[in-house]
Amino acid sequence: MNEQQKLWGGRFTVAADQEFARFNASFSFDRRLFKADVQASIAHCAGLKEAGVLTAAEARGITEGLEKILVTAESNPNYFDELPVEDVHSFIEARLIELTGDVGRKLHTGRSRNDQVATALRLTLRDEIDALASRVREAQGALLASAERYTDVVIPGYTHLQRAQPVLWAHWCLAYFEMLERDAARLVEVRGRTNILPLGSAALAGTSYAINREHVARSLGFQSVSRNSIDAVSDRDFCIELAGVAALIMMHLSRLAEDLILYATLEFGFIELDDRVATGSSLMPQKKNPDALELVRGKAGRVYGHLTSLLVMMKGLPLAYNKDMQEDKEAIFDAVDTVRDSLQVTAIVLHHTSVREARGREAATHGYLNATELADYLVRRGVAFRTAHETVGRIVLYAAERGRELHKLSLDELLQFNGNIEASVYDALSLEETLRTKSQIGGTSPTRVEEALLAARERLKT
Ligand code: ARG
Repeated sequence: MNEQQKLWGGRFTVAADQEFARFNASFSFDRRLFKADVQASIAHCAGLKEAGVLTAAEARGITEGLEKILVTAESNPNYFDELPVEDVHSFIEARLIELTGDVGRKLHTGRSRNDQVATALRLTLRDEIDALASRVREAQGALLASAERYTDVVIPGYTHLQRAQPVLWAHWCLAYFEMLERDAARLVEVRGRTNILPLGSAALAGTSYAINREHVARSLGFQSVSRNSIDAVSDRDFCIELAGVAALIMMHLSRLAEDLILYATLEFGFIELDDRVATGSSLMPQKKNPDALELVRGKAGRVYGHLTSLLVMMKGLPLAYNKDMQEDKEAIFDAVDTVRDSLQVTAIVLHHTSVREARGREAATHGYLNATELADYLVRRGVAFRTAHETVGRIVLYAAERGRELHKLSLDELLQFNGNIEASVYDALSLEETLRTKSQIGGTSPTRVEEALLAARERLKT
């Protein structure tokens, strides 16, 4: 590689060691900041003009040069690779000087790569957050679509992965909808704290030129300007927060994936994945594997890794900027890419998942999922819940020894355990009644779930 074009040649008498130069360079990954850095440069140029540092003609020359660079980058696929540079900032400045000559050498007045990189990163992540937010909405939409398509389906709800109580399939879908709803709200919060302009902080002490930072902020769509120059160039908490939200989204998606992986097994059999989202085995002809979901589950670990990297990278750094912070980019970019793809694939899988109603009902009515109903039945007849719980425990033991369900026991058999039981008990033990009684807000009764579905639809529109 040719010697890199430097932004800081004057003080140095010999060229950097080639291996060190390669190690030091970030252009292979920070070129992702290209567009944002050009836009921020255009805004900075306007700020310099307003401050009287650049003449109108100089500012025009620089702005046109920067716009040309944007256009050329789009039309020439080799544009980035033709120039050996350290990072995206050096690249843009070198290209500008190439185009405009000496006037381009004035652009860096009153700024540093430290406030520049913080600005470009915030601008870039702002867009990434918006893209993530719409992917979250898509995944929520896919959950709702499944819920609405299979409104009558019942599956066992689990605790400890043991059958617990019947729930509607739609209720299960809405559980994940709610998790993603909170994730969406978290993204809005992080966006607010990301959308603040650091430019004008210069290296760390603030800029010496009369640049109106509020104007610069407005032209870049930032909500406000940073209040402290040292803080503005030295923290990456907005990246860490975003990685944190990414990690939570992945945690939710990985649990969803795990549920679906289980439900797709022969043992559970509640769902069937369409061929479009499953894979086969190179050896076993019968296999249909849920690779898409396994990858989502696996990639959660990768995103947690990025969150940890960022936290550890920042820990104990002295103020203000340190080169350690260059390590932020690969971590946060891969985190957002991974979570975005995972959201998308999850939505696709959900759209191509069919739910097997008969199998769900069969599982929801076997394994004493109505034992709590029997206890509640006794409570309605004046028995204290703890006593009822114990009685039903004994009935379950009796039934299990005989391989029968509670609702298959005769009234005489039930009466041996408690004299208050009547024929009405069979109604109470039915699947329909079990569901219907969970009728308070947040419960799985069909009426509540229908309401919740409508409300969720409304929320998706916002
Ligand atoms: N590539 C650098 C980074 O990502 C840009 C800032 C460099 N600043 C400096 N003082 N060397 O952090």
